[in-house]
Amino acid sequence: PTLHVITPTYRRPVQKAELTRLTNTFLHVPNLHWLVVEDSVQKTAIVSRLLENTGLNYTHLNVETPENLKTQKKPKNVRIPRGTMQRNLALRWLRENINPNSSRKGVVYFADDDNTYSLELFEEMRWTHKASVWPVAFVGGLRYESPKINSQGKVFGWRTVFDPHRPFAIDMAGFAVNLQLILGKPQAYFKLKGVKGGYQESSLLQDLVTLSDLEPKAANCTKILVWHTRTERPLLVNEGKKGFTNGSMEV
Ligand code: UGA
Ligand code: MN
Repeated sequence: PTLHVITPTYRRPVQKAELTRLTNTFLHVPNLHWLVVEDSVQKTAIVSRLLENTGLNYTHLNVETPENLKTQKKPKNVRIPRGTMQRNLALRWLRENINPNSSRKGVVYFADDDNTYSLELFEEMRWTHKASVWPVAFVGGLRYESPKINSQGKVFGWRTVFDPHRPFAIDMAGFAVNLQLILGKPQAYFKLKGVKGGYQESSLLQDLVTLSDLEPKAANCTKILVWHTRTERPLLVNEGKKGFTNGSMEV
């Protein structure tokens, strides 16, 4: 099966570094199709050039998160969607560009640009019938969050502190979905409005699967294969001082 890996990304000082790190990982993964979706009005030159030079099989898309979604007044517990419109655009791309009758199998994974991915993870998710799940490190204020697995090897709940009663209390990096399921349920998207923090993943998964459909991976969820790392924003306080600036240098 082909792995369709969806990455939302946006312009900031560390963007090229993040995408370089992902490239270096993905180059080791066979049969990978990288869907990179920029949160921008236009495709940027920096991302376009980077992608051209990777040698990866990729699709480059863009859609800007409208300012009113970012700034409009909303209840405290409702979060600004980060990467949501971008992931939805990639889902639409798959539905519009992949023939559901083709015999070519696929799996869809949402890979944010700042996480750290082991190569093993991709081999685990490649064999996904409906949706596979595994632990994710450094989320929800824990060393790791994980699905809870019973003696029959089925998911029966969530090892999280933050709201374990969410339908799917799992980070974006903790699951993959079979492509046929995505193509077969063309109305399934991440909800954009009124989604409480931590409920974004549920807003898609609820439309696709039930708890009993989930396939635990990573040795029955006993291994960490992905880390929700977050890159520190570099301090650029000396930029512009004493002539220390060179906008023409691509960083
Ligand atoms: C957590 C989850 O791991 C994300 O999957 C989820 O989208 C996010 O919370 C959320 O609540 O919306 P976190 O590390 O806080 O992740 O989010 P980021 O990594 O900053 O953003 C997630 C993805 O969206 C990244 O790939 C990032 O490049 C992209 N993004 C972020 C945009 O495309 N536009 C933005 O304005 C911000
Ligand atoms: Mn992140």
